[in-house]
Amino acid sequence: MDVKIYEYDVVVVGAGLAGLAAARETTAAGKKTAVITKLHPLRSHSGAAQGGINAALGKEDSVELHAFDTIKGSDYLADQDCVELMCNKAPETIRWAEHMGAVFSRDEKGDIAIRPFGGQSKPRACYAKDRTGLTLLQTMYEQAFRSGIEVFDEWYCSDLIYKDGKVSGVVAFNIKNGEMAIFNSKATMFATGGYGRAYKINSNAHANTGDALSIVARHGLPLEDMEFVQFHPSGIGGSGILISEAARGEGGRLFNSKGERFMEKYAPNAMELASRDVVSRAIQQEIREGRGVGPNKDSVYIDLTHLDPQIILTKLPELRELAITFLGQDMLKEPIYIAATAHYSMGGIPVDINCHVRKNPNELVEGFYAAGECSCVSVHGANRLGANSVLEALLFGRHAGESIVKDIDNLTLRPVSIEDAQNAINELTWAKTNNGNERVPALRLELQESMTHNAGVFRTAESLTKQIKKIKELLKRYKNIRIDDKSHTFNTELQEAIELGHMLEYSLFIVEGALARQESRGAHFREDFPTRDDVKFLKHTYAYMDKDYNITQEYADVVLGKFEVKERTY
Ligand code: FUM
Repeated sequence: MDVKIYEYDVVVVGAGLAGLAAARETTAAGKKTAVITKLHPLRSHSGAAQGGINAALGKEDSVELHAFDTIKGSDYLADQDCVELMCNKAPETIRWAEHMGAVFSRDEKGDIAIRPFGGQSKPRACYAKDRTGLTLLQTMYEQAFRSGIEVFDEWYCSDLIYKDGKVSGVVAFNIKNGEMAIFNSKATMFATGGYGRAYKINSNAHANTGDALSIVARHGLPLEDMEFVQFHPSGIGGSGILISEAARGEGGRLFNSKGERFMEKYAPNAMELASRDVVSRAIQQEIREGRGVGPNKDSVYIDLTHLDPQIILTKLPELRELAITFLGQDMLKEPIYIAATAHYSMGGIPVDINCHVRKNPNELVEGFYAAGECSCVSVHGANRLGANSVLEALLFGRHAGESIVKDIDNLTLRPVSIEDAQNAINELTWAKTNNGNERVPALRLELQESMTHNAGVFRTAESLTKQIKKIKELLKRYKNIRIDDKSHTFNTELQEAIELGHMLEYSLFIVEGALARQESRGAHFREDFPTRDDVKFLKHTYAYMDKDYNITQEYADVVLGKFEVKERTY
């Protein structure tokens, strides 16, 4: 197979907010930068972020309160130095985005409008109606393009070139025609987003298959805190498509089949605006105890009918459209069905405060960076607050770009050869020619259904052990797949086969991490260990995988600071 070798100062994989913000910085500093994405940049999942981006802009708000809410929301697992950096830089990041051209909604005085979100002491989420991510993504794409990024869109990154603690680029293929290439670079950054597609009910784009996570893990590098998967309280009942937290921020109320406003029981002060983990568990508990609504009794109601219709029409227009399209319910006139949906992954590729990827808790990889949802910096700890992810992606994406610019004169373009593409070629050839009798969509569905069932909002040793067994069985059956499309042109069957391999592997990290963590913290709730155990588990998980899919784990200290670790109540 012909393998072309491209040379760049910087290669960024992923073209959502984090990737584009980084690439914009590196090109603006004169560094030749390629952006590789399996989508078109404007189709990146960042564009689906609806409700807002946090910054302490309100008169009664402060950076300190933002940091406190974030750390409390994280159930004290966030690294406090990273949270402080994020919250300090948040207001300036909003101004920066605005000066780049992002049009935020305004209040009556003409200031950037802010709305309340869960787990926050003050209204803090800046927004562009309910299309905040899309507005920011379009802005970042325009600016990155203007500064000179070279985009390889519809290219699939299939391997990392990693030797002796150093990264020298990636291997990728062109989805349009199967052409294979090596992207040799001084600095390589992963900004590939989330991996919620491991779950059947999720709010994620189909592309969110977490390829980068297992690519990293296949090289013996660690993944951090993978057990912490966020379940957003309000996915559309039955499908999981996101109904933004903005619906509760603007005043939406939750009711069960008996007409009870059940959050009174679970979070009497914050009610519907408790943190996401608390609200999701409350919803699932009501459903488990038989007070669900909808055709399958697997949802609860969110009611916005008491609001001034103008609030819905001007601030939540997309949510209304989504509910009409996917449920046939008009939130202006009736409550709609919602339930918890896999939404966000707090864990990921471990990085230091300047976005350098870690080889282990004490060493860094040379020439390798990550930011956004695929990374774990960790500002979200065990539970992320709504509207902190768009902030993290934009802010740490830009910060990663700045780090690369600072480091790059000390990084060299290490030579690569065609052999560096061999593993990726072997994988593609295998997936194309393997002549078994298992089908990728069927295996993927079994993975997704079993993850939702066994490793979802509520977990036990029994359900998690069952899920590990299930994934190991699926990994075996995966070796026996067959695809029918042998072409080189837009071979999505082939791509989905490769993606499934990644999904199976990183799912194993989620479940093994969850089994080992014998406590409940943030989004990780063990029914058999229902309380938080700071003595044993105020720690980050670092997990490593060997060639036979055995996972080993070690724990690393959380960076504490001025915010004292306390019990969390809302
Ligand atoms: O509910 C939402 O609008 C989602 C925001 C987020 O995940 O930060």
